[in-house]
Amino acid sequence: MAKKLDITNITKQNLKILIDNTTIKNRVVSIANTINSNYKNKNPIILCVLNGAFIFYADLVRYLKIDFEVDFIKLSSYGSSTKSSGTVRMIKDVSANIADRHVIIVEDIIDTGLTINYLRNRMLDGQAKTVSFVTCLLKERKKYHFDFKIDCIGFKIPDKFVVGYGLDLDQRFRGLKNIYTIK
Ligand code: IMP
Ligand code: MG
Repeated sequence: MAKKLDITNITKQNLKILIDNTTIKNRVVSIANTINSNYKNKNPIILCVLNGAFIFYADLVRYLKIDFEVDFIKLSSYGSSTKSSGTVRMIKDVSANIADRHVIIVEDIIDTGLTINYLRNRMLDGQAKTVSFVTCLLKERKKYHFDFKIDCIGFKIPDKFVVGYGLDLDQRFRGLKNIYTIK
């Protein structure tokens, strides 16, 4: 059996930069420009998936030139481990009435895809007019738990646990400006 990672002993010294903040910023600007051209006069609801997406989200909306509304949804699938628990729990639902609205869901990272699959079903239940997904990161895997297209992916990364730029390990490292893997 593989040795289990002891997450309590991990410090900044154990982190290795995967994507630096300048590279992230350039990509954020180009994603915002895509949204600017695709959502002119559509007044989308831009939905932040808490907690992990909060920094990517706040950076992204600053570069939007279109009208939009913000909203937040909070889900949990990880608890304090580095592996998905396999079930998604709703902690806070969307507040806006999404019926007949264009919804852009902003995620930090897609790993197994369980979370975005859950989100898409929630948006379809709420009768959103359109649902699109923007994710900062996508972990490359052979199989995911969804079968629809991701509209916009910031970076494709190897299947490794990452922290920083909003992403946490047991609630730590969210404030780091770069994205790191754990050595
Ligand atoms: P999924 O449902 O397996 O796709 O996992 C999605 C959620 O798990 C993301 O929104 C993240 O909050 C969290 N997550 C997945 N991989 C990582 C990681 O490498 N670092 C930190 N959080 C992660
Ligand atoms: Mg998380």
